[in-house]
Amino acid sequence: MAKAKQKTVWFCSACGADSPKWVGRCPACGEWNTMVEEKVSSSPSGISAKKSGAPRSTPRTVNQIEAVEEPRIHMPSEELNRVLGGGLVRGSIVLLGGEPGIGKSTLVLQNLLAMRSRRILYVSGEESATQLKLRAERIGRGSDSCFIVCETSMENIFAHIDDIEPELLIVDSIQTIATDTLDSSAGSVSQVRECASMLLKYAKESNVPVILIGHINKEGSLAGPKVLEHIVDAVLQFEGDRQYMYRILRAIKNRFGNTSELGIYEMCQRGLREVANPSEMLLSHGAEELSGVAIGVTVEGLRPFLIEVQALVSTAAYGTPQRSVTGFDSRRMNMLLAVLEKRVGFKLAQKDVFLNIAGGLKVNDPALDLSVVSAILSSNVDMTIPRGFCMTGEVGLSGEIRPVVRVEQRILEAEKLGMSDILIPAGNLKGFDSSKLSIKIHEVSKVEEAFRTLFG
Ligand code: TYD
Ligand code: MG
Repeated sequence: MAKAKQKTVWFCSACGADSPKWVGRCPACGEWNTMVEEKVSSSPSGISAKKSGAPRSTPRTVNQIEAVEEPRIHMPSEELNRVLGGGLVRGSIVLLGGEPGIGKSTLVLQNLLAMRSRRILYVSGEESATQLKLRAERIGRGSDSCFIVCETSMENIFAHIDDIEPELLIVDSIQTIATDTLDSSAGSVSQVRECASMLLKYAKESNVPVILIGHINKEGSLAGPKVLEHIVDAVLQFEGDRQYMYRILRAIKNRFGNTSELGIYEMCQRGLREVANPSEMLLSHGAEELSGVAIGVTVEGLRPFLIEVQALVSTAAYGTPQRSVTGFDSRRMNMLLAVLEKRVGFKLAQKDVFLNIAGGLKVNDPALDLSVVSAILSSNVDMTIPRGFCMTGEVGLSGEIRPVVRVEQRILEAEKLGMSDILIPAGNLKGFDSSKLSIKIHEVSKVEEAFRTLFG
């Protein structure tokens, strides 16, 4: 074989676009300082080499194609199944991304150890077998069917796959794996992309599902999972605040399910615990009533839950008032403040406003507006919102309360959690029989009206 010709290509570490020379700004995604130099050989490698020999498939009309339900592998964690859209599809390739130390390896290992009847191969390029054993002990489980191998060469991994013939393959993490066909180092854009396509090909041919673990790196010095997003079938993101023990699993892309689903976990001493009822964790059960606290009802995916919104309004000590927001869109809060100022006549311009969504959760459900406004007003006048009150509704620019989706579900969830009263947008309930419910429903059409209902 002729010696492969070497050339230098610049890759964007954020989006994977390539360029023959260095540029300060990626022409594809517009990010600055993301281009990294890599040596690539121009000899056809991996997949592209075999492409021409692949059997051709015959085109069929839509009616000729049989719709067979994808057989799914049920994972032990129900939250994970929900986010995957009902289990892991055979032959699919899933990318689990997240910041280092958030708990990706723990989540995967915990699930593997609970799947006793399947042969699983866990390829670890980051941790030693002993570390994994210690983690398994910490989680409190062992397994006779989960094989662990510490390996970073793609070719060796395929040899192990041939030996073990797994029913499920995990690669932790894709940034540590490298193939000999490329000269660049592990974690570079071309390596990550090539290894992922080799694994994709393996998954499609063998019908074995593959889970790739990938780090998200803020500096972009490692090839970010963004490069892989279009290769894989599903991208799950594991996120959470380090200060809080809660972790959220979100689907960013899913060819086999809904992307609005959410799984919630809590990192405990002995592994991750599923939080089946998120409302419980998001409400603090303090004995006293406090001003500046409102309970909103939000819907994430198909699940409604109650969430505590906390606000603190105080006189601005320095000239420019401060606005600080965690877990909520700050521009949206500024808009809500402007609405309060203009339409309701609250003088908030000289006040510092701090807003916090309990539990470290980030929400972008507009139905939370009413609870944000109520929390701010409650703190501003230093009056508590009566115990048992919760609310849902979007606030419009003229201070009107706009209808929200799935209002029935929200009401039922509030009732289930023992709330006594709920504020909902006027005219939102159409043909819903609430007579059997013990929760009292207040329909409000304006912010002032909501204010009167809450504070009398
Ligand atoms: P890990 O799964 O190694 O993160 P990642 O693979 O995303 O880099 O999780 C590491 C963190 O989780 C570490 O800080 C310790 C913590 N942890 C617990 O709090 N409890 C546990 O039972 C385990 C296994 C880990
Ligand atoms: Mg890890």
